[in-house]
Amino acid sequence: MPTNISYEINNKKPEDKKLFIRKMFDSIVPTYDLLNHVLSFGTDILWRKNIFRHTKKIKGKTVIDICCGTGDLSLILYNKGSKVVSLDFSLNMLEKGVTKNALRGHPVSADACWMPFKSNSFALATIAFGIRNIPDIDNFIQDVFRILAPGGELAILELVRPENRIIGKIHYYYLGAMLPLIGGIISGRKLAYQYLAKTINTFIDQSELKTMLKKYGFKNVAFYPQTLGVATIIVCEKEML
Ligand SMILES: C[S@@+](CC[C@H](N)C(=O)[O-])C[C@H]1O[C@@H](n2cnc3c(N)ncnc32)[C@H](O)[C@@H]1O
Repeated sequence: MPTNISYEINNKKPEDKKLFIRKMFDSIVPTYDLLNHVLSFGTDILWRKNIFRHTKKIKGKTVIDICCGTGDLSLILYNKGSKVVSLDFSLNMLEKGVTKNALRGHPVSADACWMPFKSNSFALATIAFGIRNIPDIDNFIQDVFRILAPGGELAILELVRPENRIIGKIHYYYLGAMLPLIGGIISGRKLAYQYLAKTINTFIDQSELKTMLKKYGFKNVAFYPQTLGVATIIVCEKEML
């Protein structure tokens, strides 16, 4: 990865940022799964499963896993008996997901903000550890609202800043020092893990996200904090017509 890329987080040029983000994810694929489990002490596996404690039944329904990466969440959706579309703009991530047999439905390469599907198509849309990488969140929320069927749900799993002050300080240190160190050693891409840590520290507040979801028509927005508040599951619904 070139070292002259700006790692600053800003929303000024979303398309440039997306190109950078796509290339970055393309570059960390070989060790991506391993590092997810190591850096979260294995809790990422539990968090993905916990999503379904808060969503409606999906057996036989058509669902979409947005920013699916290598497909760990897509595979859970598939095992629940749903018809799964898995969307990501990183071809390397999709390829790894297909190789490891996690993407058993329909893998699609596209931008999460301009999804190539008809309106009112899906009963559930999931996005795990993806939304904080999307610079133009407004476009994403509007498009996911469009493709969901009335009564359909959006479930977001994301890493966040813990509200407890002491845990927050430990978390800040972990993100700033340990995550790039361990990520760098295992993947050889320290800058990528510095960037990923920074996206957690600079992502919008949970209350702002709730306001945006409601602004674009979602109702019943509920938050379910995970493991000391370092991650959260957000579930909301497109109003039934
Ligand atoms: C941190 S990974 C999460 C992967 C997976 N959901 C998981 O649970 O491990 C974020 C993924 O989002 C994808 N991504 C980021 N921005 C995107 C966008 N605008 N459109 C489509 N995919 C995007 C990246 O390519 C990457 O595979």
